Amino acid sequence: MTESSNNHPEFHQILNRSEKERLLRQNARVIWFTGLSGAGKTTIAGRIEKELNQRGYLTQILDGDVVRSGINNNLGFSPDDRYENVRRIAEISKLFLHCGIICLNSFISPTHKIRQMAKDIIGQDDFIEVYINASLEVCEKRDTKGLYQKARAGKIKDFTGIDAPFEAPENPDVEINTEALSIDESVSMALEYILPVIEYKMP
Ligand code: ADX
Repeated sequence: MTESSNNHPEFHQILNRSEKERLLRQNARVIWFTGLSGAGKTTIAGRIEKELNQRGYLTQILDGDVVRSGINNNLGFSPDDRYENVRRIAEISKLFLHCGIICLNSFISPTHKIRQMAKDIIGQDDFIEVYINASLEVCEKRDTKGLYQKARAGKIKDFTGIDAPFEAPENPDVEINTEALSIDESVSMALEYILPVIEYKMP
């Protein structure tokens, strides 16, 4: 670290968000995928990441299952713990955002209150809400992780859609019905919204 004449030795060296966005040639955003377990959030976010990376965008995936096995491994699925889970993720996303990085977040984030809190932390203009919509019936039939069966058998308590609530977003930026659309179609639909927003235009 070098001393500078203005007595602020560090600040003149630190890039701010817009300088980092210029460096990366992208507008940073948090793309927030909400929906039931098994709706397709993780799959779609993963495919979108690949598409964005191929186009030169730098991204970071944050995913419920992964985050809950690491930084949030002390949290369960009570309403308070889900709130805290999402609060931490929103704060972490904000750090990435200010580093110019596009976040792809897959969390059930089951209630209006929880999603509003995430939106408030991240900032309305930087938050893109994508509702990955599949009915409970279909998610339960897919039961990719076998968790619905366990929840129905009473082996897992407070399972979203079974004995814990899911409030569908009323006004998402994008709604993708994965019952009607293939994965490719779902990814295309999301990209149609996302690409123009993250595209960098030289000021
Ligand atoms: S959130 O409600 O706090 O946003 P999050 O997305 O992090 O949930 O975690 C959901 C994942 O945890 C599910 O995809 C599933 O694999 C697992 N899980 C384990 N128990 C539960 C439960 N009781 N309700 C929902 N998901 C659960």
